[in-house]
Amino acid sequence: MKHLLTINDLSLMEIEQILHDAQSFSKGEKWNPAEKTFVANLFFEPSTRTRMSFEVAQKKLGFEVLNLDCGFSSTQKGETLYDTVRTMEEIGAKAAVIRHSKDRYFEELAGKVNIPIINAGDGCGNHPTQSLLDLLTIQQEFIVLQGLKVVIVGDIRHSRVARSNAEILHRLGAKVYFSGPREWYDASLAEDHYLPMDEACEMADVLMMLRIQHERHECKSGMTSGQYHEAYGLTPAREKRMKDQAIIMHPAPVNRGVEIADELVECERSRIFKQMNNGVFVRMAVLKWALEENLKEETANGYL
Ligand code: CP
Repeated sequence: MKHLLTINDLSLMEIEQILHDAQSFSKGEKWNPAEKTFVANLFFEPSTRTRMSFEVAQKKLGFEVLNLDCGFSSTQKGETLYDTVRTMEEIGAKAAVIRHSKDRYFEELAGKVNIPIINAGDGCGNHPTQSLLDLLTIQQEFIVLQGLKVVIVGDIRHSRVARSNAEILHRLGAKVYFSGPREWYDASLAEDHYLPMDEACEMADVLMMLRIQHERHECKSGMTSGQYHEAYGLTPAREKRMKDQAIIMHPAPVNRGVEIADELVECERSRIFKQMNNGVFVRMAVLKWALEENLKEETANGYL
């Protein structure tokens, strides 16, 4: 059973294969499961990009998509996550894509469910498919990741994207730095790699901006949005000091005018909307990675 719970569930070879498959899907490559193969999307936390791009990915591959309306499901009557997933399994879903506000929600499912779980984001923990689409976006710009300077800026401590990206970029040999408010810096991710914002903008090959995760903590800094933008945001003046080939990324949703100036969201060096486009193809490749062998086996055994 292949679960994608954290980015560390993947070997470097598997990551390479997923990114290769994503590129192939973007060029029209086909992989289709048997007809009437169901997959379930369980989003217990809001999402625009992840949820919609998983659904597009699933439909492009020809899956039948089951979207649980979590606010109108028996979760509201006390049904446990395990019981919801077991129900999906029992009614015929071949995989479950789950987003949940609880850190490492998947631990309560470990060893107990018989369909692949694909983590679409757990609390402040992990967002492996975001990391994969970010890697694809970086790879499309820079052939060699070894030594590439990636600066992650903002609410590091509460960001599942920062954690997942720092882990995988480090494994791939990139140099990962952080900037933003000191109180949101997480030294466990990269000790001594904190940079002041102006320096960060000048030295980054990839500048990865983050949203303040207001839903995960009280913002006690007392700063207004304008003050945050001046101190830690990507302003037009800072953008002008970036290297010629440097790119700007952001997992989105973007708070325009807070972490990044409105006019920079779609500037020439921004790859923010490209990241979203890549998300569809990466999620197609992840579904193939998770399900190809299982479905082959089931077809061979006459279960499909
Ligand atoms: N980047 C991302 O996960 O966006 P959503 O929360 O809209 O899915």
